Amino acid sequence: MGEIDGGGARAPRRTVHEGDGVAWLAAAAPLPPDHAVVTSLPDHSELPELGVGGWRTFFEDVAASICGAVADEAVAIFYQTDVKHDGRWIDKAYLVERAAERAGSHLLWHRIVCRVPAGTITFGRPAYSHLLCFSRALRLAPAASSADVLPALGEMTWPRAMGRAACEAVAAFLLAHTGCRTVVDPFCGLGTMLAAANAAGLDAVGVERSPKRADRARRLRLEPGRRARLADREGSR
Ligand SMILES: C[S@@+](CC[C@H](N)C(=O)[O-])C[C@H]1O[C@@H](n2cnc3c(N)ncnc32)[C@H](O)[C@@H]1O
Repeated sequence: MGEIDGGGARAPRRTVHEGDGVAWLAAAAPLPPDHAVVTSLPDHSELPELGVGGWRTFFEDVAASICGAVADEAVAIFYQTDVKHDGRWIDKAYLVERAAERAGSHLLWHRIVCRVPAGTITFGRPAYSHLLCFSRALRLAPAASSADVLPALGEMTWPRAMGRAACEAVAAFLLAHTGCRTVVDPFCGLGTMLAAANAAGLDAVGVERSPKRADRARRLRLEPGRRARLADREGSR
């Protein structure tokens, strides 16, 4: 990653930091104008020490700081899947929208990503995920409209992953409709969004607290027409 290819163009870069994405973001903010944040915040089941109430506060505070960290014309994009807890839904799109409002950001689009075919009855988790895009100053012309229901997630690198098709759609949106050319994911997991960004020619920066996942996020490759794979540790093979 980052080397000059045979034609003289620079190959897209990827940097993955092992550590706390919240602290990293606080130190990195404000982000440069060509940086977008695209992330999937941890579910309460990943942070049991907080309890559901504490997690909700954490979730909204972090979503607000992400919206506040991007430049005025840049975007913050969240991929979130609701959960049922104690017989009630926790609607994460609602939580992200509350946080965005606090940060002075506006919704540019809200896409629904089908996790299973429409009409399927699911239990505990919904049949869809939310993909929401916010900016403080960017506005999209009507011609920039695109499908707001993605019929399938695409390949999943692990059960908590962002779907590959959703990541590819986000990368295409950034290229076509924003000036953002670097994707930051402060909770990058296995790096699905980072690899999709690089495959589209965008640079990528990730943060992940799990050393094992951070290692895999450095090596994940998503190439057209091939299933996701891990490059060896030495380089790009
Ligand atoms: C929903 S998953 C992200 C999945 C990722 N989008 C993917 O496609 O693999 C959330 C990730 O955040 C990580 N995480 C949780 N708290 C964190 C923190 N404070 N700093 C960095 N990573 C954290 C978890 O280890 C988990 O890998």
